[in-house]
Amino acid sequence: MASRRGRAGRVGLRLLVSSDARALNSILHDGRATRFLPAWVRRATGRQFVARVLREQRRGEGVAFAIVPIGSGEAIGQVRLFHWSPADRVAELGFWIRRKHWGRGFGTQAVRLACRYGFRVMSLHRIEAVVLAGNEGSKRALEKVGFRTEGRSRGSHLLSGRWTDAWRLGLLREERLMPSRPGPRRLSRTRVGRGT
Ligand SMILES: CC(C)(COP(=O)(O)OP(=O)(O)OC[C@H]1O[C@@H](n2cnc3c(N)ncnc32)[C@H](O)[C@@H]1OP(=O)(O)O)[C@@H](O)C(=O)NCCC(=O)NCCS
Repeated sequence: MASRRGRAGRVGLRLLVSSDARALNSILHDGRATRFLPAWVRRATGRQFVARVLREQRRGEGVAFAIVPIGSGEAIGQVRLFHWSPADRVAELGFWIRRKHWGRGFGTQAVRLACRYGFRVMSLHRIEAVVLAGNEGSKRALEKVGFRTEGRSRGSHLLSGRWTDAWRLGLLREERLMPSRPGPRRLSRTRVGRGT
């Protein structure tokens, strides 16, 4: 059996579609996967989540991708660029993955691919992320791609009835995207890269 590390990063992205709702629904019903996510996402079904992000995409407010293992079409998570301001060339990044796939480098690779798309296709100058304190896996995945921790907002989010701090991270266009360790570095053979 391949080691977990040996399979690192073997995922690609494709644009999210309505039929991904079912695959994402089971992730959204996993309280451990959603505990650090915004309240509206924690409350959403897969169908509601996909409908909302596709609506935002049609309005030009962002782009959403399904995370798919190479050679498979089945979504194991999503990564999206949202709060897109074409005038400032900035967008925010959010991502989550089905729990059984955690720890294999998939999150890091999905962030890397989405950032590459953001800089190359959306012409972003800056990508930012907000990570709630305690969500070490998310922070680490972003830092591995090259995001810098820029600050900590105190008590900015109400999480399970407690005011919780949030880390603010950012990555600028001119900063180097950290390469993946062994494994393919591609956007996959899908529609990603052709624009939306
Ligand atoms: C965040 C998330 C997508 C990371 O996905 P992943 O595929 O497990 O990430 P990776 O395998 O690429 O791991 C990234 C790094 O974080 C580390 N890491 C993962 N979980 C960790 C934890 N709980 N504590 C400390 N480090 C952790 C990994 O070891 C790895 O670092 P390393 O290569 O130096 O060992 C996944 O944990 C998830 O879906 N979480 C729930 C949703 C969420 O919080 N999304 C982010 C909102 S901002």
